[in-house]
Amino acid sequence: MRTRRSNLALVGLPGVGKSSLGRRLATQLNVPLLDLDRSIIASTGVAKESVEGIFAREGEAGFRIRERSAVAALDEVTPPAGGAAAALGIGRIVALGGGTLVDPRNRWVISQCARILWLDAPDAVIAGRLRTARVVRPLMKRGNPEETLRTLRAERSRFYAIGARLESKKSPGTLAAPAIELLQNSPRGGGRHLLSAALPSGQWDLGVGIATESLLRVLRTRNARRVVLVSEPNAERAIGATIAAALKRAKISVTPLTLKSGESAKQLTVIDDAARTLAAAGIERGDLIVAVGGGALTDTAGLLAALYLRGIDWVAVPTTLAAQLDASLGGKTGVDLPEGKNLVGAFHQPIAVIADLDALRSLPTREIVAAMGEAVKIALLGEDRLFTLLEECATRIAAGDASLHEDGTYAEIVERAGWWKCTVVAGDEREAGLRMSLNLGHTLGHALEQAANYKGILHGEAVGYGLRAALTIGQELGVTPAARASRALALLDALGLGVAPRRESPGALVDATTRDKKVAGGKIRWVLATERAFEIRDDVPASLVLRAATQMLAGSGGKR
Ligand SMILES: NC(=O)c1ccc[n+]([C@@H]2O[C@H](COP(=O)([O-])OP(=O)(O)OC[C@H]3O[C@@H](n4cnc5c(N)ncnc54)[C@H](O)[C@@H]3O)[C@@H](O)[C@H]2O)c1
Repeated sequence: MRTRRSNLALVGLPGVGKSSLGRRLATQLNVPLLDLDRSIIASTGVAKESVEGIFAREGEAGFRIRERSAVAALDEVTPPAGGAAAALGIGRIVALGGGTLVDPRNRWVISQCARILWLDAPDAVIAGRLRTARVVRPLMKRGNPEETLRTLRAERSRFYAIGARLESKKSPGTLAAPAIELLQNSPRGGGRHLLSAALPSGQWDLGVGIATESLLRVLRTRNARRVVLVSEPNAERAIGATIAAALKRAKISVTPLTLKSGESAKQLTVIDDAARTLAAAGIERGDLIVAVGGGALTDTAGLLAALYLRGIDWVAVPTTLAAQLDASLGGKTGVDLPEGKNLVGAFHQPIAVIADLDALRSLPTREIVAAMGEAVKIALLGEDRLFTLLEECATRIAAGDASLHEDGTYAEIVERAGWWKCTVVAGDEREAGLRMSLNLGHTLGHALEQAANYKGILHGEAVGYGLRAALTIGQELGVTPAARASRALALLDALGLGVAPRRESPGALVDATTRDKKVAGGKIRWVLATERAFEIRDDVPASLVLRAATQMLAGSGGKR
């Protein structure tokens, strides 16, 4: 959708001076200023109300609901004729609250109708201003303000970073001219950035129509002159060809490498052939691999990057929902063996993951629904807002409702599930403990995929079955509370995951679980859901596994 982005949204930490800069900019550009907090206060109809008053009466939840409505009401404003505002295409300044961008739906709306300016200053400078301000902010009442600001910065930088950043120690009222200059020099139009997280493992960008600009930015920071563009026919059609053309326009030499679509790319022979192609093309350590495709493609291309010349840098541009919310994040790469899935691989983090939601529009509904297997897993591990969101829109997802692309639902699902995974991986990159939780539903899920010879069943669909079995086992062992299991099963039913009966033999599945990667000392380590987290058990009796596999293969028929 084309929008004019005629608002200029000022974002940044509380106390950084958004209102003050907003007033100056509004005067200088001769456009109105909308202070979002004031609109929220006005919406209460209470005389002499304040943000603190709303928090006290309605709680933060009440305030955020009012904030969402105020953001949803933002519209385009025609810039004045002539002058700097007209040249910038800005018709209004909007000063947002410090937490407005935390809500993914607010970012969805704001990225559509506004250019974003991140006003920033060192924490000590902001704290100093807060100490001497006339109005005592709630932030100042919470112990050491600098410490609070540091925490808020760590939590929110990924949201603010979608805007152009203006950092200065100077008083915000004096920054109108540098702000205008920054806007004049920042690209107008282009993609809609929704998230820009600088993680210790690499950059994670999420947005709409951002793939080429984000990729070029990453490649420029690396001074890259040549890349190997690894893709497969469906992803090439969706976005790969556009990326290749943009790279060529930017004078970056592209060696194309097209693999087979889907799981059949995940083979050692494919790695062997691909590595020889790279060698023949003279690819060097300083060159990069850009992997454009679904999880099977990023798993394979990532392993190729890990192995070629003992490791070269790579960028993942995931093109399926499963790859955006899960597979491309976390640095696990690998291929399958006839003996089992993902048995050969390496931990090799991409330097950047660029998830462009535009790529998802060509995905068949079945692929989208399958991706929800991994999303339900994350919800079960404790991402409560994701759980509720999935429950709210499960029937629309199952029905292939295209409006979920337009209203920010898929963006929010990718962000919530992906961020959860990134946080888990940051705490345990090599899967020594916490990361093992991400295998919930995968022990019998992988076994099912293997028994089906990786044909006729998608990975996420298998995870849907595997989750059902894990819930059965968890309940029988007293680990998973009945209400939690019942809620998860109802969600899987609504999505249509693990519903149809399967023909595989339960015995073959149980046999396959013994070759699982999580086997230690001959014992299978099962990840089981607790009330809002997980427990690892290595004492699940074989008879119970067989029963759970049998029940899982019978499907639910949508009923329990
Ligand atoms: N590394 C990890 O941490 C991790 C995590 C989860 C899953 N995985 C792996 O990911 C794989 C599953 O990923 P997937 O579901 O993306 O499967 P996939 O890569 O096989 O893609 C599914 C299908 O979608 C097609 N496709 C890709 N992009 C498209 C687009 N934009 N429009 C239309 N069609 C498109 C592909 O050609 C393929 O046919 C499995 O191999 C699984 O083991 C890895």
